[in-house]
Amino acid sequence: MTIVIKNGTVVTADRTWKADVLIDGDKIVDVGPDLDGDEVIDASGAYVMPGGIDPHTHMEMPFMGTFSADDFDSGTAAALAGGTTMTVDFCLPGPGQGLIDALQTWYQKAGKARTDYSFHMAITWWGEQVFDEMPKVVSQGINTFKHFMAYKGALMVNDDEMFASFSRCAEIGAMPLVHAENGDVVAFLQQKLMAEGNNGPEGHAYSRPPEVEGEAVNRAIMIADQAGVPLYVVHTSCEQAHEAIRRARQKGMRVFGEPLIQHLTLDESEYFNPDWQHAARRVMSPPFRNKMHQDSLWAGLAAGSLQVVATDHCAFSDEQKRMGVGDFTKIPNGTGGLEDRLPVLWTRGVRTGRLTMNEFVAVTSTNIAKILNIYPKKGAILPGADADIIIWDPAATKTISAKTQKSAIEYNVFEGIEVTGLPVMSFSRGRLAYKEGDVRADTGDGRFVERPANAPVNTALSTWKELTAPRKVERSGIPAGV
Ligand code: URP
Ligand code: ZN
Ligand code: ZN
Ligand code: ZN
Repeated sequence: MTIVIKNGTVVTADRTWKADVLIDGDKIVDVGPDLDGDEVIDASGAYVMPGGIDPHTHMEMPFMGTFSADDFDSGTAAALAGGTTMTVDFCLPGPGQGLIDALQTWYQKAGKARTDYSFHMAITWWGEQVFDEMPKVVSQGINTFKHFMAYKGALMVNDDEMFASFSRCAEIGAMPLVHAENGDVVAFLQQKLMAEGNNGPEGHAYSRPPEVEGEAVNRAIMIADQAGVPLYVVHTSCEQAHEAIRRARQKGMRVFGEPLIQHLTLDESEYFNPDWQHAARRVMSPPFRNKMHQDSLWAGLAAGSLQVVATDHCAFSDEQKRMGVGDFTKIPNGTGGLEDRLPVLWTRGVRTGRLTMNEFVAVTSTNIAKILNIYPKKGAILPGADADIIIWDPAATKTISAKTQKSAIEYNVFEGIEVTGLPVMSFSRGRLAYKEGDVRADTGDGRFVERPANAPVNTALSTWKELTAPRKVERSGIPAGV
């Protein structure tokens, strides 16, 4: 059984052209004019693009005394409805727990996934066992290690632990990721604000100013450079963070930045809404920023100094958010977005001229496939690639509403936004996974995607670091008797 997608316009990260796409089993086998297949899908008037990859999700995440509300079942249903065909979640070992042990829990949770998936491994503590297990994690096809510089007393790691872990990443051809906020300063500001009676959700924003993020990004970049390893900065939310990344890249450092669709389109005024629940629903870290920061992030995507748009999908119900009534530090941090990332980015990015269609594909799929070392298996419309394809109707519209969403929670932070440009069909490894409002992929249809170590940037950087490493000068004329 072959499937041919006919009469569409193929849009990839580097070109736009009229072509048919032939799928055989789970792979794309041909792209070109006048192709025939057993089943014909008519894509007249539509764009045929690589499925979205969201490298930043938290399904059923144990966090702040609860678990995020979307599991791999509802979360990946939301992903498919929004044109995302692969997700990467964070495996979080508990205090003192082994990495391989924690992975078993995540494999089990992800058994419900409808999209293909991978994991980043979080380094939540440091010790010989973690050091020893890191290469074992890599041998299981996980080449990224996440470090939280915030959440003091919980997930946070210190500079010495980060340096040790980044150095280990360099040795084993893996890449560190950072959640960059100065956790010590955040903890201090939280206490100060609470002591002053500033206990509402706006306190969350006040406790995490852009400078706190910018400092941490600079520090992580310095540590990565000294360890000789590339770096990926998750949820880059502000100019201070972007500036640090931009400057590092101009110096030739291998640093990547990931703005979220939330930070690109929603602003800090949400936290000053007089309705507590409205504001609490939007509590996430880093917090939403003002327009100056949003403009910086959009410019970074256009300029190439920022590479990826993600969601950090980490949904909490109203009841869960209410854990923080009277104390903003107890509001579970996180927002949803998986179903909305592509339509909102298309509407606010492509339709406004901030992004080309090709840049849209790059930042939602192709760039992260390259960074995660799974290109062109994922993120490409090429013979041999996995048939993860979306058929995109640029004229389709809807008003975003929690009433029709796949996510398990009762609200949506993009509620009421009218989007133009929607997926009409999504294929996942050659199978129809979504069609016109209907998720067709079953729970459990997703597969784990192995990501090999030693991505091209790792190899290039370690070659350069080796070439430029300190070398002892062999000298003659050393004075005797000294
Ligand atoms: O507020 C957020 N971002 N929650 C999820 C955990 C994280 O920091 O990414
Ligand atoms: Zn984070
Ligand atoms: Zn609002
Ligand atoms: Zn996150």
